[in-house]
Amino acid sequence: MGSIEIADNVYSVGVQDPELEIFDIVMATEFGTTYNSYLIKGTDKIALIDTVKKEFTDEFLANIAEVTPLDKIDYLIVNHNEPDHSGAITTVLERNPNIKIYCSAAGLPFVRNVINREADLTGLKDNATLELGGKTLTFVTMPYMHWPDTLMEFLAEDGILFSNDGFAAHYCGDSIYADEIDGDVDHEVDYYFDSIMRPFTGFIRKNLTKLEPFDIKTIAPSHGPLFRKDPLTHIDNYKRWSVDKSEGRNLVSIFYASNYGNTKLIAETIGSHLDKAGYETALLDAADFEEARIKEQIEASKAVIIGTPTFNGDAVKPIWDMVNLFSTVYRTGKKAAVFGSYGWGGEGAKLVADRLSGLKLKVFEEQYRARLIPSDDEMTELGEYAKRLAEFIG
Ligand code: FEO
Repeated sequence: MGSIEIADNVYSVGVQDPELEIFDIVMATEFGTTYNSYLIKGTDKIALIDTVKKEFTDEFLANIAEVTPLDKIDYLIVNHNEPDHSGAITTVLERNPNIKIYCSAAGLPFVRNVINREADLTGLKDNATLELGGKTLTFVTMPYMHWPDTLMEFLAEDGILFSNDGFAAHYCGDSIYADEIDGDVDHEVDYYFDSIMRPFTGFIRKNLTKLEPFDIKTIAPSHGPLFRKDPLTHIDNYKRWSVDKSEGRNLVSIFYASNYGNTKLIAETIGSHLDKAGYETALLDAADFEEARIKEQIEASKAVIIGTPTFNGDAVKPIWDMVNLFSTVYRTGKKAAVFGSYGWGGEGAKLVADRLSGLKLKVFEEQYRARLIPSDDEMTELGEYAKRLAEFIG
């Protein structure tokens, strides 16, 4: 791809990876990706923003060399330490040991573990600035967008927001500008958000307000094309996708799996008690729902109650499949409880409760369990359990 001047003395020096099929193990990349890096030449100083995946180091260094000798670069800004952006830092540092590395304060330990050597490191806080001579960068920390270390910077003279993974898309097109690409880049931005950013929406909501002071004319992300036409649309989309879907509701979702109807009976009884306690309840057979619907239901819920039978000492697959979706959505502060019926061991409910605790949900310490068909006494106990559960949900 080579170097491309995107504004006066501002260059794209990143690389393309059109053959990539899977990113971060979790995300199919039908259109490949790019690892974007930018170089800014001020009248006094030169800054490089991010590097690339290690395998592309030689091509990256060649792109830089088209603009400036590597040893003339004064600053390396590390917006994020995931290896797709930090893979060439060590080589840059070997060839330019005097380069000053700027990152967020939260990024310092990550950088140290990437370079594993002494270097001139500066950890930045919000609104720190860097003057390069006619080119002024203002930094904003963007924690958990999608790593704790994420940093963005705004180049005031050219109105460019260097947004790292924010507003990014895994898309390797014929042009570096979205407005010159025929494909559906917006769809890929949405897909990227859903795959990478969605578990952090609570943080993203807060972070986006930090961009309001800037007059953004171009968004230059770390993957995919740059947005110079209606860039604020992408920030508005992120705001829309990050809303708290549980706000203003009192929803408790009860997911269950049931072979002979006993776990379902417990689910219905808990639901009935929670209804009477004033909650909006939804009773959902976990085997009947698509992943997308389950994710939306979890996000909309104040609490998620899960019922599983025990088969062969374990919870059943539809329940594990839905539990595995918690890590793909924002779950901070959500409450959970687990119940189930069983034949002889009854381990399933405990295993699910342990997993939910591991995912940092606030899990009710009691798991209601009934052997085979719940007796009248057990149904009475269940009513008492449901009252305690309602108090726990609060
Ligand atoms: Fe593109 Fe989170 O690395």
